[in-house]
Amino acid sequence: MRDLTDLTVAITGASSGIGAATARTLVSEGASVVLGARRVDRLNDLAAELGSKVAVVEMDVRDPADAARLVEQAYASFGRFDALVANAGIGAYGGIMDLSDDQLREMMDTNIAGTVWPIRAAVPGLVDAGGGDIVIVGSVAGLRGAGDEAVYAATKFAQVGLAGGLDRELRDSGIRVSMIAPGGTATEFAMGAGRTPDMPGLADMMRPEDVAEAVVTVLKQPLSMRTLIWSMRSVKEAD
Ligand SMILES: NC(=O)c1ccc[n+]([C@@H]2O[C@H](COP(=O)([O-])OP(=O)(O)OC[C@H]3O[C@@H](n4cnc5c(N)ncnc54)[C@H](OP(=O)(O)O)[C@@H]3O)[C@@H](O)[C@H]2O)c1
Repeated sequence: MRDLTDLTVAITGASSGIGAATARTLVSEGASVVLGARRVDRLNDLAAELGSKVAVVEMDVRDPADAARLVEQAYASFGRFDALVANAGIGAYGGIMDLSDDQLREMMDTNIAGTVWPIRAAVPGLVDAGGGDIVIVGSVAGLRGAGDEAVYAATKFAQVGLAGGLDRELRDSGIRVSMIAPGGTATEFAMGAGRTPDMPGLADMMRPEDVAEAVVTVLKQPLSMRTLIWSMRSVKEAD
């Protein structure tokens, strides 16, 4: 497996759930991390927990300038930038007519544009460096659709198209574009928008650490190979 020591990885959506777990796992592997999200107090708490190999950027993935600042912070704090984990995303359960215009717009903007902007910020430096990694956290919903989540699923299908297209576009530059497509994971995802902390089934979902392990395993693959889509679900999750 590839040694991640002293590589620098920027993570969007690092203030909770899968992103925060990915940061913890990466630091335990010796990597440096740049944490991006809107809730900067959460990011600062995580940075205090993880020590010196952490930088924090208060940012909104829907803003291209914020995305650029995330990547710039990697060079500023650690002198290098090796990988982006495009993880930030939101979801809300409900039929196409049940969710509000604002809910749908926010979901499409966060999950689609909010994946594109950080990738555009990341690519030039990775090309100049001769390569690197982009890992997108998609969803099982983006591989097969999901009832009560049609627009969310559409945003996650968009990420699949983005990953497949970029794999073809960027491979000759040494950039590996990978997707982790998890099923249900017990995080803050959709809390108050279809999920509740005491809902049945939450305890049977994967833990964010399980998904983080997959993200890090993708980064640890030898540079001679690439991962396209790694989908994973709890054994207890219904079809
Ligand atoms: N949990 C699941 O069941 C599940 C299943 C499949 C796929 N996923 C995917 O996994 C990814 C991570 O979700 P999670 O489960 O870890 O949920 P989570 O605990 O709610 O974390 C979502 C993260 O995204 C960040 N975020 C949301 N909007 C943002 C914005 N506009 N700008 C910057 N950051 C933003 C949040 O930070 P701030 O609010 O602080 O900005 C938070 O750090 C998402 O892409 C989600 O679609 C989750």
